[in-house]
Amino acid sequence: MTDVTRPDFTLLDLDALSEATGRIVVLAGGDGSLDKGARRVNRLTKGAVARLVESEAFSDMKAGEMTTLAWPANLAAEAVDVVKVEKRLTPDLARKVGAAIGAKRGKGDTLVLGGSHKNLDQLALALLLRSYAFTDHKTGEKDKVTKGAVTVMVNQPEAWKPTVDEVMAVAEGVVMTRDLVSEPSNILTTTEFAARAVGLKELGVKVEVLEEADLDKLGMRALLGVGQGSESPSKVVVMEWMGGGDEAPLALVGKGVVFDTGGISIKPAAGMEDMTMDMGGAGVVTGVMKTIAARKAKANVVGLIGLVENMPDGKAQRPGDIVTTMKGDTVEVINTDAEGRMVLCDVLWYAQERFKPAGVIDLATLTGACVIALGHENAGVFSNDDDFCKAFLKAAETEEEGAWRLPLGAAYDKLLKSEKADFKHVGGRPAGSITAAQFLQRFIKEDMPWIHLDIAGVADVKSDTDLAPKGATGWGVRALNRLIAETCEH
Ligand code: BES
Ligand code: MN
Ligand code: ZN
Repeated sequence: MTDVTRPDFTLLDLDALSEATGRIVVLAGGDGSLDKGARRVNRLTKGAVARLVESEAFSDMKAGEMTTLAWPANLAAEAVDVVKVEKRLTPDLARKVGAAIGAKRGKGDTLVLGGSHKNLDQLALALLLRSYAFTDHKTGEKDKVTKGAVTVMVNQPEAWKPTVDEVMAVAEGVVMTRDLVSEPSNILTTTEFAARAVGLKELGVKVEVLEEADLDKLGMRALLGVGQGSESPSKVVVMEWMGGGDEAPLALVGKGVVFDTGGISIKPAAGMEDMTMDMGGAGVVTGVMKTIAARKAKANVVGLIGLVENMPDGKAQRPGDIVTTMKGDTVEVINTDAEGRMVLCDVLWYAQERFKPAGVIDLATLTGACVIALGHENAGVFSNDDDFCKAFLKAAETEEEGAWRLPLGAAYDKLLKSEKADFKHVGGRPAGSITAAQFLQRFIKEDMPWIHLDIAGVADVKSDTDLAPKGATGWGVRALNRLIAETCEH
């Protein structure tokens, strides 16, 4: 599991600068102005920083961009990174700067001369998130990739102390999600995933693991049908964080398909290795639970994840099978590769029956169609409640996590008609993400505020994003944490 470095906010110490190792980061004003720390670095390097900020190259730089002065004379540091900023470091700019620093962060130390700028917590968070690397399975390279210390020198360190705990809570939640999503499926089995969720007990989360016998008693035959071809036992993990008194909780529900071969409707070989990330929804739910517990949120949130593996086997489910869900409806299985909705429908129903939540949000790497519609920039958002949906979209926008609402409607719902059962689980190729959402909505109770997030395109990506190197993004942890902070806490 990946460690998160705790950033140290300390008082500006001018005499320590010449001996600092690794990288020193200087924030220079758009007009080339330098604060006290920057001026000392400039003096030590015999005017190298001033030469840069007075150059045409500097005036051509945009706010948030960085130029590196490598192997500067008279410093122990291997580089001075000069970042152009504006007079005021807005949260967005602070994240941009932090990401630029994080992308350069090597195994050495990083010292940021933050001075009296605002939003340095956002800078530190972005730095930590952008410098993430999943190295657990790189034999012998562990010490080569372990990151150094992060120090932020400021004028008033006391003021920053409380925000460091927040930064750590968010970073650790996002990193937990990324580690889960990155982990290969021979390691992250249903049993291992459940064990990692149980690890949240350390932070005071109540965690319960429902085993196959329990799920059978509850009647979750849609979920069990998906896992019946696998050697890994199907499980539902229930995590509870009750920090908010006696109001009804928010329920988060995640798709946790630890590997999706497609089952008997088997997927083509090319790219199938990507389906190790098909537990991304469950990964986000677990990461959010970690973040809110770590920051002791005054909110009631329950997280439920359905953990299964979708395998072809003599015991596997077949196309044409008819199963009875926990709700009692019968479903005709058309394509065993549309397994996520079969897992979610039972967990959604169980979450509502057991917790009578104030609202439900589910997350799932549900459809390839969502990737076709929105690419890797936005998750698909579906909701039956405009106010709830708007609150989520606003939180996502503030966190710069792409999210785009798509429609629901009776005409789409009709496509799920079945000849033999109450309904079928797929509606054909047109509007594939919407018909998947319609299927889920059939398991949402009347008047229950609900948001479905299709994260197939954003959970794990093939190129770097603003706050993550290519690979698992942890998309949604920050948006949901913010939604909880803004709407569930008082
Ligand atoms: N896990 C996949 C969806 C997916 C695709 C996630 C690409 C991430 C990237 C899901 O279980 C699936 O296979 N969906 C099918 C549904 C179809 C059979 C109706 C799909 O999208 O093709
Ligand atoms: Mn599938
Ligand atoms: Zn899947």
